[in-house]
Amino acid sequence: MSSAPQALDALARARRVWDNHNPENVTGGLIQLCRELVRPDWVMVEVGCFAGVSTAIFAHFAATVYAVDPWELGPERGYNEIPASAIAAAAGRFDLVAARYPNVLKRQGFSPEAAAAFAGASLDAVYLDGAHDPAGFEADVRAWVPKLKTGAFLMGHDLNLVGDPRRFLNSTAELRTYPESSWAFKVGQNDQ
Ligand SMILES: C[S@@+](CC[C@H](N)C(=O)[O-])C[C@H]1O[C@@H](n2cnc3c(N)ncnc32)[C@H](O)[C@@H]1O
Repeated sequence: MSSAPQALDALARARRVWDNHNPENVTGGLIQLCRELVRPDWVMVEVGCFAGVSTAIFAHFAATVYAVDPWELGPERGYNEIPASAIAAAAGRFDLVAARYPNVLKRQGFSPEAAAAFAGASLDAVYLDGAHDPAGFEADVRAWVPKLKTGAFLMGHDLNLVGDPRRFLNSTAELRTYPESSWAFKVGQNDQ
Protein backbone atom coordinates (compact mmCIF):
# COMPACT_ATOMS: atom_id res chain seq x y z
CA MET A 1 0.00 0.00 0.00
CA SER A 2 1.30 3.49 -0.84
CA SER A 3 2.01 5.82 2.06
CA ALA A 4 1.43 9.58 1.81
CA PRO A 5 3.75 11.52 -0.50
CA GLN A 6 6.55 13.47 1.13
CA ALA A 7 5.77 17.19 1.39
CA LEU A 8 7.46 19.36 -1.21
CA ASP A 9 9.04 21.55 1.47
CA ALA A 10 10.72 18.44 2.92
CA LEU A 11 12.03 17.58 -0.55
CA ALA A 12 13.35 21.16 -0.81
CA ARG A 13 15.65 20.30 2.11
CA ALA A 14 16.62 16.85 0.77
CA ARG A 15 20.02 15.93 -0.69
CA ARG A 16 19.87 14.59 -4.26
CA VAL A 17 22.83 12.28 -4.60
CA TRP A 18 25.41 10.52 -2.49
CA ASP A 19 28.13 13.15 -2.13
CA ASN A 20 27.18 15.56 0.65
CA HIS A 21 30.14 17.81 -0.19
CA ASN A 22 28.89 18.45 -3.72
CA PRO A 23 27.31 21.94 -3.78
CA GLU A 24 25.00 20.81 -6.60
CA ASN A 25 23.49 18.12 -4.40
CA VAL A 26 20.43 20.23 -3.52
CA THR A 27 16.96 20.57 -4.99
CA GLY A 28 16.12 24.29 -5.24
CA GLY A 29 16.91 24.65 -8.94
CA LEU A 30 14.99 21.51 -9.82
CA ILE A 31 11.92 22.70 -7.95
CA GLN A 32 12.20 26.04 -9.75
CA LEU A 33 12.35 24.21 -13.12
CA CYS A 34 9.25 22.18 -12.20
CA ARG A 35 7.31 25.24 -11.08
CA GLU A 36 8.11 26.99 -14.37
CA LEU A 37 7.70 24.15 -16.85
CA VAL A 38 6.06 20.95 -15.61
CA ARG A 39 2.30 20.72 -16.12
CA PRO A 40 -0.17 18.50 -14.18
CA ASP A 41 -1.11 16.49 -17.27
CA TRP A 42 2.46 15.66 -18.29
CA VAL A 43 3.72 12.14 -18.93
CA MET A 44 7.47 12.28 -18.50
CA VAL A 45 10.58 10.15 -18.06
CA GLU A 46 13.48 10.60 -15.68
CA VAL A 47 16.68 8.80 -16.71
CA GLY A 48 19.00 8.22 -13.74
CA CYS A 49 16.87 8.30 -10.60
CA PHE A 50 19.25 7.00 -7.91
CA ALA A 51 17.41 7.30 -4.54
CA GLY A 52 14.38 9.00 -6.07
CA VAL A 53 14.71 12.50 -4.59
CA SER A 54 14.37 14.16 -7.99
CA THR A 55 11.77 11.56 -9.02
CA ALA A 56 9.59 12.48 -6.03
CA ILE A 57 9.83 16.17 -6.97
CA PHE A 58 8.69 15.44 -10.54
CA ALA A 59 5.86 13.31 -9.11
CA HIS A 60 4.51 16.39 -7.31
CA PHE A 61 4.15 18.26 -10.60
CA ALA A 62 3.48 15.73 -13.40
CA ALA A 63 0.71 13.18 -13.97
CA THR A 64 3.07 10.26 -14.61
CA VAL A 65 6.82 9.86 -14.11
CA TYR A 66 8.52 6.82 -15.66
CA ALA A 67 11.70 6.21 -13.66
CA VAL A 68 14.55 4.59 -15.64
CA ASP A 69 17.70 3.36 -13.89
CA PRO A 70 19.44 -0.04 -13.72
CA TRP A 71 20.16 0.45 -9.98
CA GLU A 72 23.01 -2.04 -10.34
CA LEU A 73 25.97 -0.18 -11.80
CA GLY A 74 29.51 -0.33 -10.49
CA PRO A 75 33.17 -0.42 -11.55
CA GLU A 76 32.81 -3.94 -12.97
CA ARG A 77 30.47 -2.42 -15.57
CA GLY A 78 32.84 0.46 -16.27
CA TYR A 79 30.79 2.89 -14.16
CA ASN A 80 32.84 4.85 -11.66
CA GLU A 81 30.70 7.91 -11.09
CA ILE A 82 29.04 6.61 -7.93
CA PRO A 83 30.31 3.86 -5.60
CA ALA A 84 28.47 0.56 -6.10
CA SER A 85 27.60 0.47 -2.39
CA ALA A 86 25.87 3.85 -2.71
CA ILE A 87 23.87 2.62 -5.73
CA ALA A 88 22.78 -0.47 -3.81
CA ALA A 89 21.60 1.66 -0.87
CA ALA A 90 19.86 4.05 -3.26
CA ALA A 91 17.91 1.18 -4.85
CA GLY A 92 16.19 0.47 -1.53
CA ARG A 93 15.46 4.16 -0.93
CA PHE A 94 14.01 4.47 -4.45
CA ASP A 95 11.55 1.65 -3.78
CA LEU A 96 10.23 3.53 -0.74
CA VAL A 97 9.68 6.59 -2.95
CA ALA A 98 7.91 4.51 -5.62
CA ALA A 99 5.63 3.09 -2.92
CA ARG A 100 4.71 6.61 -1.78
CA TYR A 101 3.96 7.98 -5.25
CA PRO A 102 1.51 5.92 -7.32
CA ASN A 103 2.28 8.14 -10.34
CA VAL A 104 5.92 6.94 -10.34
CA LEU A 105 6.35 3.92 -12.60
CA LYS A 106 9.66 2.12 -12.14
CA ARG A 107 11.38 0.90 -15.31
CA GLN A 108 14.57 -0.86 -14.22
CA GLY A 109 17.03 -0.88 -17.09
CA PHE A 110 19.65 0.96 -19.06
CA SER A 111 19.09 4.04 -21.12
CA PRO A 112 18.99 4.26 -24.13
CA GLU A 113 17.65 0.67 -24.40
CA ALA A 114 14.77 1.64 -22.13
CA ALA A 115 13.73 4.30 -24.66
CA ALA A 116 12.73 1.56 -27.11
CA ALA A 117 9.70 0.73 -24.95
CA PHE A 118 8.19 4.20 -25.48
CA ALA A 119 6.19 5.18 -28.54
CA GLY A 120 7.50 7.95 -30.77
CA ALA A 121 6.32 11.49 -30.00
CA SER A 122 4.51 10.28 -26.86
CA LEU A 123 6.24 12.12 -24.01
CA ASP A 124 5.92 15.67 -22.66
CA ALA A 125 9.43 15.70 -21.19
CA VAL A 126 12.52 13.64 -20.52
CA TYR A 127 14.99 14.60 -17.77
CA LEU A 128 18.49 13.17 -18.33
CA ASP A 129 20.61 12.49 -15.23
CA GLY A 130 22.05 9.06 -16.04
CA ALA A 131 25.18 8.94 -18.22
CA HIS A 132 27.36 12.04 -17.98
CA ASP A 133 30.23 10.86 -20.23
CA PRO A 134 30.24 12.36 -23.75
CA ALA A 135 29.28 9.19 -25.67
CA GLY A 136 26.65 8.09 -23.16
CA PHE A 137 25.08 11.52 -23.01
CA GLU A 138 24.94 11.86 -26.80
CA ALA A 139 23.35 8.40 -27.05
CA ASP A 140 20.71 9.47 -24.54
CA VAL A 141 19.86 12.67 -26.39
CA ARG A 142 19.57 10.80 -29.69
CA ALA A 143 17.49 7.98 -28.18
CA TRP A 144 15.01 10.11 -26.27
CA VAL A 145 14.38 13.11 -28.54
CA PRO A 146 12.27 11.02 -30.99
CA LYS A 147 10.09 10.00 -28.04
CA LEU A 148 9.18 13.62 -27.33
CA LYS A 149 6.18 15.41 -28.76
CA THR A 150 6.93 18.49 -30.83
CA GLY A 151 7.23 21.35 -28.36
CA ALA A 152 8.01 19.00 -25.47
CA PHE A 153 11.02 19.59 -23.23
CA LEU A 154 14.35 17.79 -23.13
CA MET A 155 15.75 18.53 -19.69
CA GLY A 156 18.54 17.32 -17.48
CA HIS A 157 21.13 17.88 -14.79
CA ASP A 158 24.85 18.69 -14.78
CA LEU A 159 25.06 21.05 -17.75
CA ASN A 160 28.57 21.81 -16.51
CA LEU A 161 29.55 18.16 -17.12
CA VAL A 162 27.61 17.24 -20.23
CA GLY A 163 27.76 20.51 -22.20
CA ASP A 164 25.06 22.11 -24.32
CA PRO A 165 22.76 19.28 -25.51
CA ARG A 166 21.46 21.35 -28.45
CA ARG A 167 24.72 20.67 -30.31
CA PHE A 168 23.46 17.20 -31.28
CA LEU A 169 20.32 18.65 -32.89
CA ASN A 170 21.53 21.94 -34.37
CA SER A 171 18.74 23.41 -32.27
CA THR A 172 18.39 27.17 -31.87
CA ALA A 173 15.76 26.85 -29.12
CA GLU A 174 16.40 28.85 -25.96
CA LEU A 175 18.35 26.84 -23.40
CA ARG A 176 16.88 27.54 -19.96
CA THR A 177 19.26 27.02 -17.07
CA TYR A 178 18.57 26.69 -13.36
CA PRO A 179 20.61 26.71 -10.17
CA GLU A 180 22.67 23.59 -9.56
CA SER A 181 23.08 22.98 -13.27
CA SER A 182 19.65 21.80 -14.37
CA TRP A 183 18.74 22.74 -17.96
CA ALA A 184 15.80 22.50 -20.36
CA PHE A 185 14.89 23.38 -23.94
CA LYS A 186 11.93 22.86 -26.23
CA VAL A 187 12.34 20.26 -28.94
CA GLY A 188 11.16 21.37 -32.36
CA GLN A 189 9.73 19.49 -35.33
CA ASN A 190 13.10 19.38 -37.09
CA ASP A 191 14.77 17.86 -34.05
CA GLN A 192 12.73 14.64 -34.26
C1 LIG B 1 23.57 11.33 -10.30
S1 LIG B 1 22.59 9.93 -10.06
C2 LIG B 1 20.96 10.53 -10.31
C3 LIG B 1 20.48 11.44 -9.23
C4 LIG B 1 19.01 11.74 -9.25
N1 LIG B 1 18.55 12.16 -10.55
C5 LIG B 1 18.71 12.85 -8.26
O1 LIG B 1 18.82 14.01 -8.64
O2 LIG B 1 18.40 12.53 -7.10
C6 LIG B 1 22.90 9.04 -11.53
C7 LIG B 1 22.06 7.78 -11.70
O3 LIG B 1 22.15 7.45 -13.06
C8 LIG B 1 22.12 6.07 -13.19
N2 LIG B 1 22.67 5.72 -14.50
C9 LIG B 1 23.95 5.77 -14.90
N3 LIG B 1 24.06 5.34 -16.16
C10 LIG B 1 22.82 5.03 -16.58
C11 LIG B 1 22.25 4.53 -17.79
N4 LIG B 1 23.02 4.22 -18.85
N5 LIG B 1 20.92 4.34 -17.85
C12 LIG B 1 20.13 4.64 -16.80
N6 LIG B 1 20.60 5.10 -15.63
C13 LIG B 1 21.92 5.30 -15.52
C14 LIG B 1 22.92 5.55 -11.98
O4 LIG B 1 22.55 4.21 -11.65
C15 LIG B 1 22.53 6.56 -10.92
O5 LIG B 1 21.49 6.06 -10.11
